[in-house]
Amino acid sequence: LLVHNNNSCSSKINTWNNSLILKPQLKLEERMSKAEKYRVLIQQINALVEGESDRIANTSNIIASLMQSFEFFWLGCYFVQGDELVLGPFQGPVACTRIKKGKGVCGAVWSNNEALLVPNVHDFPGHIACSAESNSELVVPLLDNDDTVIGVLDADSREYDHFDEIDKTNFIIIAKIIAEKYVG
Ligand code: SME
Repeated sequence: LLVHNNNSCSSKINTWNNSLILKPQLKLEERMSKAEKYRVLIQQINALVEGESDRIANTSNIIASLMQSFEFFWLGCYFVQGDELVLGPFQGPVACTRIKKGKGVCGAVWSNNEALLVPNVHDFPGHIACSAESNSELVVPLLDNDDTVIGVLDADSREYDHFDEIDKTNFIIIAKIIAEKYVG
């Protein structure tokens, strides 16, 4: 399955392009329900990371593929280092680098080991506003094999109430893939 293209980029990007990025396929994608888009995306993410062990490469490609499909305002990971979450691979505007346990939405997800759907971030006590443009947020924990939080997957939207249970369910599945590849 590994494709070597002309400029020696060793990847599965060509397979990826054929299904999600090329314009004729985008029309097909536009007709899909959100749940169906996630189903296809998760299949492709699994194929994309199969056989690759580098945690930064895998996390970066997963974030990029999710962003290409859903065009959130901001999407990325934070990973636990000591008593802080530290910014990892992301797409979108510059973000806060370090978040203390219990602080903001991300810190609350770490403390409680529970995903949080926040329809209006301005109503969330202690919300950390990395950008004034973000109005709703979905954060899910990244768990190791013992269900210990090793990080979080965080998505922000400019729209209020942008995320729903379909996003949450599928983010949890994607977080599992990220964490499994991260832990190794
Ligand atoms: N809003 C988050 C901080 C991270 S940014 O959204 C990228 C929070 O309250 O934890």
